[in-house]
Amino acid sequence: MAETRLLDDYRPWPFRIAETRLDVTLAPRGTVVRSEIALERSGPGPLVMDGGAGLRTRAVTIDGRPVDPAHLTIAAESLTVAEAALPDRPFAFAAEVEIDPADNTALEGLYLSGGMFCTQCEAEGFRHITWYPDRPDVMAPFRVVVRSDLPVLLSNGNPVAQGRGWAEWHDPWPKPAYLFALVAGDLRALADRFTTMSGREVALNIWVRPGDLDRAGFAMQALKASMVWDEQAYGREYDLDVFNIVAVDDFNMGAMENKGLNIFNSKLVLASPDTATDADYERIESVIAHEYFHNWTGNRITCRDWFQLCLKEGLTVYRDQQFTSDLRSAAVKRIEDVVALRARQFREDAGPLAHPPRPDRYEEINNFYTATVYEKGAEVIGMLRRLVGEDGWRAGMELYFTRHDGQACTIEDWLRVFQDATGRDLAQFKRWYTDAGTPRLTMAEDWDEDAGRLTLRFAQTTAPTPGQPDKPPRVIPIALGLISPNGDEVLPTQMLEMTAAAQEFSFDNLGARPVVSLLRGFSAPVTVERTMSAADRALLLAHDSDPFARWQAGHDLALEALVAAAQGGDPDPAFSRALAGVLGDGTLDPAFVALVLRLPSEDEIAAGITARGAIPDPDRIHEARESLAETIARDHQPALAALYERMEPQGPYSPDAGPAGQRSLRLAALGLLSRLDGGERAQALWDAAPDMTQRMGALAALVRLDRAGTALAQMESQFADNRLVMDKFFTIQPIAAAPARAVAIARSLAARPDFDWKNPNRFRALIGAVTANPAAFHAADGSGYDFVAEWLMRLDPANPQTAARMMTAFETWPRHDATRRKAARDALERIAAMPLLSVNSAEMVRRILA
Ligand code: ARG
Ligand code: ZN
Repeated sequence: MAETRLLDDYRPWPFRIAETRLDVTLAPRGTVVRSEIALERSGPGPLVMDGGAGLRTRAVTIDGRPVDPAHLTIAAESLTVAEAALPDRPFAFAAEVEIDPADNTALEGLYLSGGMFCTQCEAEGFRHITWYPDRPDVMAPFRVVVRSDLPVLLSNGNPVAQGRGWAEWHDPWPKPAYLFALVAGDLRALADRFTTMSGREVALNIWVRPGDLDRAGFAMQALKASMVWDEQAYGREYDLDVFNIVAVDDFNMGAMENKGLNIFNSKLVLASPDTATDADYERIESVIAHEYFHNWTGNRITCRDWFQLCLKEGLTVYRDQQFTSDLRSAAVKRIEDVVALRARQFREDAGPLAHPPRPDRYEEINNFYTATVYEKGAEVIGMLRRLVGEDGWRAGMELYFTRHDGQACTIEDWLRVFQDATGRDLAQFKRWYTDAGTPRLTMAEDWDEDAGRLTLRFAQTTAPTPGQPDKPPRVIPIALGLISPNGDEVLPTQMLEMTAAAQEFSFDNLGARPVVSLLRGFSAPVTVERTMSAADRALLLAHDSDPFARWQAGHDLALEALVAAAQGGDPDPAFSRALAGVLGDGTLDPAFVALVLRLPSEDEIAAGITARGAIPDPDRIHEARESLAETIARDHQPALAALYERMEPQGPYSPDAGPAGQRSLRLAALGLLSRLDGGERAQALWDAAPDMTQRMGALAALVRLDRAGTALAQMESQFADNRLVMDKFFTIQPIAAAPARAVAIARSLAARPDFDWKNPNRFRALIGAVTANPAAFHAADGSGYDFVAEWLMRLDPANPQTAARMMTAFETWPRHDATRRKAARDALERIAAMPLLSVNSAEMVRRILA
């Protein structure tokens, strides 16, 4: 069993690094890495370096002399030079190792992707490149020489010199090893320039494979927009002469913020109207921004240890969310973020994998790049901002940047900054970082007609989570407004601060009993329980001035109806009835209307049933959802048909929020209408072959109707050599097919020669699609679990990180019936019993089954 790492065990490293020099001679099977690390002692103890199994160590010297073997211990994951062998003055540790990038299918450290050398070092990948203190609190300037015959040789920082077969780079900003990067390949750059607010000229390059150059333009535009935004919103300027981005096809995650040399999954760089959807464009824009923003929140100020991961990730997600709301629609962005938070983070928080944004133990840190650390981490920042107010937020951020620039920090440092800047005590607030679980907020109302007084009685509870049985109350910012029965706002948004387990707030001088618009803007990541009539919900959907609360009112109507229907009750017609007003209101943003039309996911319905103490039935949930969609289509056929026509965007494709919103409403209407027209519109739209967004909308409808054969064949012949489009081909079939057929479809897709399962995008495209079709994945006969488990077992030896991450699909197993629970457990136990199961997957299975 792997070692558990504890937050409480933190000890500083007893040396400082003045400079790290690397000289890397690239070769697929035998890359030679020579390192020279200038060290100075800062505490007692031997010199311990981290290293991975793949290092073939050829030499280790101190100040140029080989270390006496009696003083040198090379173990599986560490190299130790005894204290007796170390000089008292500054000294140089040097090593020469050989590594095998061609053999690196885990995609951690230095590896090959389509003939290109590239690296991924976060979190602990650098130890697979050479011996080093691979921990984020050890920072150093780097000087790197890359040697290879490949034409483009890149590393962090600024280029110093280059010749035939080599290039030297210097990064003056001290950084931890996880921000190191190196790339070598036959690449082409889309080049541009940026002048920072103080006049620094920066060369911008987006490096792609020769054939992909025409699809890099949007990423470049997003990069420049990000650079401008960070200057304007936070006064943060770029700090090197060059900023390079490289797109690679084989990548475990989305992208990586290596200093001056961001490395991206190619799906988050490459886009053209005929190959990428609006959602792809929006995601490219936000991830480019995210990685760029890390330059300050992550790189200039980094994390002391990996328990503090949310210090950089929560804050940087928060910043990229703000960026997108500024560039696009704030209302739509907020709703989308909440939908995603509930789908991934609330689900995580409610199951066996629940952990706090700042965990205090882990076996494998890569298992903690989670929705909780990222997305809940961002929500916590949003709450902090609400609690300290705009001035406090500004003052705190300014102090954070000035006080901690160049440091490796903790959540305590972060909170102290806001305490010092505002005088506010944040001790209770800190629980949001240290406690897992989603608080459940209940609200009861007392209306005193004679006094015109409304009293709201709130209570908060948080269910136990693994290792945390007791949950003290947290501070919860509750934004609310009051709406009169005729739809007028009688009280604009108030920010209440709930600090106790139970608390009351009263509002006086009210003429008539108002309807409470609660948790406006989703002011805290909590679940809300209140009794409310369908009529009051419809009133908010029609009139609430807060777009989030307005959308939520409609969403709750739909969710209630679906939860009831999936439990055998009568479907309440209130949601469909209320849609008439929304569909007929031409003043609403089409993107907002599309969100109102988007029914709660099957997973959300299941969670709703579980929250009511019942056992969800995935098949009935699927049927209830399909049937509500059909009811809506019948009830609103003419209005939807009119919208479908009216929302056809005019002019050439643009990924901007306006036209993208029109397309999303158009496709929402198409999805509903295709339940009545047998897929005629969808087929016509596919045949017209407009942008990829609309083609995928059409294709989804055709697959659902099981009449996509021709369209899929056309897609395949048109895009056989476009990996990113073919990923969509692999995803759309199992995800949109009827649950009873999805696994069989996936099995036949998995047998295709182009199911290149070692490529993480392709693996996720197909296997992930099955897990995203809940009634298929949770099939009572266990066929979904078996299929996914089979593939996770195949992937684990090659790529533990991606296998372990995908295992989260199983985290909802405890809520199901005994038959399904047994099937899931059997599948997980088969994984657990695998010989040589990775540490990553072993930790995940153990936690999921605990
Ligand atoms: N820091 C990167 C980001 O947020 C994520 C990299 C994580 N990679 C990993 N293998 N855990 O953009
Ligand atoms: Zn990040």
